[in-house]
Order: sequence, then C-alpha cells, then structure tokens
Amino acid sequence: MATFSLPKNSKITGKARHHAAPTQGKVRKFKVYRYDPDSGQNPRYDTFEIDLEQCGPMVLDALIKMKSEQDPTLTFRRSCREGICGSCAMNMNGRNGLACTTAIEDLSGEVRITPLPHMEVIKDLVPDFTHFYAQYASIRPWLQTVTPTPSGKERLQSPEQREQLDGLYECILCAGCSTSCPSYWWNSDKFLGPAILLQAYRWLADSRDEMTGERLDELEDPFRL
Ligand code: FES
Repeated sequence: MATFSLPKNSKITGKARHHAAPTQGKVRKFKVYRYDPDSGQNPRYDTFEIDLEQCGPMVLDALIKMKSEQDPTLTFRRSCREGICGSCAMNMNGRNGLACTTAIEDLSGEVRITPLPHMEVIKDLVPDFTHFYAQYASIRPWLQTVTPTPSGKERLQSPEQREQLDGLYECILCAGCSTSCPSYWWNSDKFLGPAILLQAYRWLADSRDEMTGERLDELEDPFRL
C-alpha cells in the first residue's frame, strides 16, 4: 500500500534546484525533499539526475552519489548499508522502506524521496525520533524478573519457548511501519503504534520475563493499545 504523506513541517514552496547528471548514460531523475530549518525557508523538492551506469543499485547508493558529487549539504541517515541498523528508513515513491535495500530499478519513473511521513523533520531526510524512542523506553524493553537468577546459570528457555520470539526480536526499529499507520499519524502522542506494540509483545511473549501482569496493566488504555 502506498503510504505517501508529507512530514509535519511541510509547505513545499521553497525554490527548487536542479542538479544535472555530469555524465549521460542511463540517467534517472530523483526528486528529493529538502528542508533546512536554519535557512528560514520553506521545504522544497530538488531534482537530481543520476547516471545509473555509474551508480550502485540501491536508492542509498544514489543518495550517497548525490551528496558526494552534486550537493554535500544533502542530509540523510545511514550506517550499516545492509538492512540491519534501520537508520536509512524513508519514503520512496509513496512507500516507506530502507534506502539501502530498495533497488532503484524497482521504482518507476522519477523517484520521489521524502522523510518518513508525519514525523518532525530535523533536516532534509532526517526525521526526529525523540518521541518514538521515548515511547520505546516507556514499554521497558528489557528482561524484568523478580526471582533470583539460578546460581551460576542462565535463565533457560526450551526451543519451543524460544520460538515464540521469532518474528518479534528481528525488528530493527526503523519506524517504517509506525509512520505508515494513519492511527499513528493522528494520535502518535497517545497511541504507541505498531513498532512499539510489537516490542511490547516481544517481552510479553518471553517465557523468562516475570512482569507480564504489570506490562499488560501499562498497556491497558483506550489509546495506547
Ligand atoms: S543503512 Fe542500515 S538499514 Fe539501511
């Protein structure tokens, strides 16, 4: 499902800039959201032309090329380049995804890149995760126990108990799901959103955790859940 929606501080009336490709091979156009709060100007879309024959296959490769060859002020997050850290999450042609695992050839036409929807924007493609991380901290995402650890031993799980965590522990907290959820757009001050609820369930489902009742009590709320 396409989830395009602009970030919160968006009136796209800034003066657009065009960055032509320095070479002319297989050129693709990218329309990239630009916003610098220090400039006092409204956001704008800049167009970048990239020669795909001189570029890696992923959207992140194109962004790195734009920044290193055309406009060093272009700002975005990235770290692992392997779909592990979650920092390159953004909206590409109306869908949230990781720029490092999204192939340019899977996107049609002029590629429109914006920050994750409905987040405050710090600069260009960098959203402010302060609230998202505060919500994550609120569910106490760590093992909580009351009984003493068995002396000299770990708290063990059976293979079946461990399997209960499959599909939960892998979440990389990129916020792509939460920021494509309309309920989270409208009520993110109260609703925890899919990513944080998944994490909350990850600890409820953990056979070693001994605070299940307290965790459920904390979720018991007309908006939070
Ligand atoms: S750079 Fe780490 S997930 Fe994309």
